[in-house]
Parts: sequence; C-alpha cells; structure tokens
Amino acid sequence: MEILGIVGSLRSGAHNEALMGAAALAVPEGAGIIRLDGLRDLPYYDEDQDTDSPPPAVVRLRARIAAADALLIATPEYNGSIPGVVKNAVDWASRPFPGSSLRGRSVAVIGASTSRFGGVWAHAELRKVLGLAGARVVASGIAVPHADRAFAADGRLADPEQQEALAAVLADLVASARGVLQPV
Ligand SMILES: Cc1cc2nc3c(=O)[nH]c(=O)nc-3n(C[C@H](O)[C@H](O)[C@H](O)COP(=O)(O)O)c2cc1C
Repeated sequence: MEILGIVGSLRSGAHNEALMGAAALAVPEGAGIIRLDGLRDLPYYDEDQDTDSPPPAVVRLRARIAAADALLIATPEYNGSIPGVVKNAVDWASRPFPGSSLRGRSVAVIGASTSRFGGVWAHAELRKVLGLAGARVVASGIAVPHADRAFAADGRLADPEQQEALAAVLADLVASARGVLQPV
C-alpha cells in the first residue's frame, strides 16, 4: 500500500514537513509513505498547456498520483485558505476530467499551523476542492495548532493523543483505499 505524501509548504524546516514525518511513524502495517517532490516545478495551471503533451512536471505529478494507492496531503493555511502551490497541484491533477489521476483516489488532509486553530479553514477548503475533483476524501483529519512546539525530538507529535489521532487518520486512509471505508 503506497501512500503518496504531499507537503504543501515549499520552505525548508516546514512544520508540515515535520507532520509528514510524524505520519510516516504512524502508518499501519503493510503501508508506507513515499514523498512527492516537485510542487515547486509545476507551472501555473494553464489550459493552453494542458494538451496531449503537458509540461514534464505535470506528467510526473499525474503519474505519481496514478501509481499511488492513496494520498496524504499536509497543508499549511495561508490567509484562511490553502497555499497557491497546493491549489495549483490539485488543478493540474484534476484534469483531464473526468478521467483524472485524482478521481476515485483516497485522500486524507492533515496540517499544522502556528496559530491556535491549526489551519482548519485550509483543511475545509482543500477537502472541498478535492471532493469536487472526484477524490475520495476520508472524513477524518488532524489540524495541529501551535506547530512550533508540537513535535517531540523523536519526530512524533509531542501530545500522545494527537499522535494517536494521526495514526487513526492513516488507518482510515488505508481502509478507504482498500474499499473498506466509504466516503461521507
Ligand atoms: C502568507 C502567510 C499567511 C498565513 N496565514 C495563516 C492563516 O490564515 N492561518 C494560520 O493558522 N496560520 C497562518 N500563517 C502561519 C502559518 O501557519 C505558519 O507560517 C506555518 O508554519 C506554515 O507552515 P509550514 O511551517 O509548514 O511552512 C500564515 C503564514 C504565512 C507565511
């Protein structure tokens, strides 16, 4: 079971990168997270470039998603919404419609923010756009607040309940990809 891990922050030392690391320590037996690089290389979505031979970074993105059993997206919140790079990636991955690599793919949304709300608005927006693109968005997720002090030295979330909640999200994601858990 291959879970493609996508981090929506481009900066080095991102808390959402750390969250993806904590998720890698919480995957169920038989599953693993493979990280996707290359969000930075994607051009802005442009329908003129979305032809039978789209830009190479787009071809790679779509192929990686198509080859994955499920997606785990760890996103920051910027100004109450998702970062442009995340929306841009979803827009490319949502085409061609309806036969895109995202369609029917199980996806879980997680994220960390330095605020006390954990980026819940961004999560709601990302879940909305993924659902519109035809992905199977799992009901569970986790929004980690105060991200600058949320991680322990071993890479796990410092709060054991949060780390358990993260493991539960991953269990739901794997169950969804196996067809055991139906989308809401
Ligand atoms: C442009 C910008 C806008 C932000 N807007 C929000 C916001 O609306 N809500 C929030 O909780 N945090 C917001 N933040 C703070 C981010 O949660 C914080 O920078 C976080 O560490 C970003 O994730 P990263 O560490 O994975 O890069 C914003 C940060 C930036 C740079």
